[in-house]
Amino acid sequence: MTIPNIERAALADINNADTQSNLQLVRAKYLGRKGSLTQLRRGLKSLPVAARAAQGREINVCASNLSEAIESRMAALEQSALDENLSREALDVSLPGRHQSHGGLHPLTQVLHRIEDIFVGAGFDVVEGPEIETDYYNFTALNIPPDHPARAMHDTFYLGDDGNTEFVLRTHTSPAQVRTMEAREPPLRIISPGRVYRRDSDITHSPMFHQVEGLAIDRDLGLAHLKGVISDFLNRFFEMPLAVRFRPSYFPFTEPSAEVDVQCVHCKGAGCRSCKYTGWLEVMGCGVVNPRVLHMSGIDSEAWSGYAFGFGVDRLAMLYFGVADLRQFYAGDLDFLTQFDRL
Ligand code: PHE
Repeated sequence: MTIPNIERAALADINNADTQSNLQLVRAKYLGRKGSLTQLRRGLKSLPVAARAAQGREINVCASNLSEAIESRMAALEQSALDENLSREALDVSLPGRHQSHGGLHPLTQVLHRIEDIFVGAGFDVVEGPEIETDYYNFTALNIPPDHPARAMHDTFYLGDDGNTEFVLRTHTSPAQVRTMEAREPPLRIISPGRVYRRDSDITHSPMFHQVEGLAIDRDLGLAHLKGVISDFLNRFFEMPLAVRFRPSYFPFTEPSAEVDVQCVHCKGAGCRSCKYTGWLEVMGCGVVNPRVLHMSGIDSEAWSGYAFGFGVDRLAMLYFGVADLRQFYAGDLDFLTQFDRL
């Protein structure tokens, strides 16, 4: 074969090589130890001296043309191999991520934790009491004897057969006061959160709801301490300085007793739907523990005094989160509940 023919055939082979390894084979076929150009070079010896130089030059030119063509073809194949890899491994960073759903704390649990944190920070212990109570702890020991009119205010669920009134679903967390005074020696400071039950159900009442009871017993503890603790708690809970007022009220287990109002958290007292245009929200009951209650629980009311308070967790949660219908907390609707997700 003539050198130009070899070159033409080789260039065609180079162009047709579709992978880097095929191209190596082409290189071996023409430039390798047994390659066509190498064979020609070996044959130079047998040529007449006069023709050798010209033929040698022609072989060299052809060899370097082929080398160059192979290099550039090699570079092109490398590039396309790279492009192919890149497109195979391409990552679309604009795709939405895969959502990993996670559990979260119920809004009432979150609010309860906030309440506990504030009181624990003020030196109160957290104690719990049973939800099924006896008449004694729920009423009698709290100075609500049988036939006391205050019993009628409680819409009690009685357990057991008709006429059996010994066991009740507790109507408030105040029985925890009695249990604590029986079990501990003063001085003491406790809060007792938990479920309570009343036969009542509408937009702001659920037959099961949550209260937190507070009780502090010490020497010379009175109304001033109560006002300080409650005002401080409400300011911390709502994360803003709000006016707090105490209205005279009545509970059989405290004397004097008060109802606590806080300046409306939504309108700051200007008047809005949340506060029924009064500027105030009623948030808890409280008072100085009635000496009769101390006495019934075995505490010397000459030596010790104390204050107590009780409030609804659900109500504080509604105000804190701006939820209008209490029942939403209990409907188990994830669209509602996930709004309160905090990691
Ligand atoms: N137990 C009362 C209620 O449920 C609240 C309260 C607790 C009032 C402690 C005074 C002292 O309404």
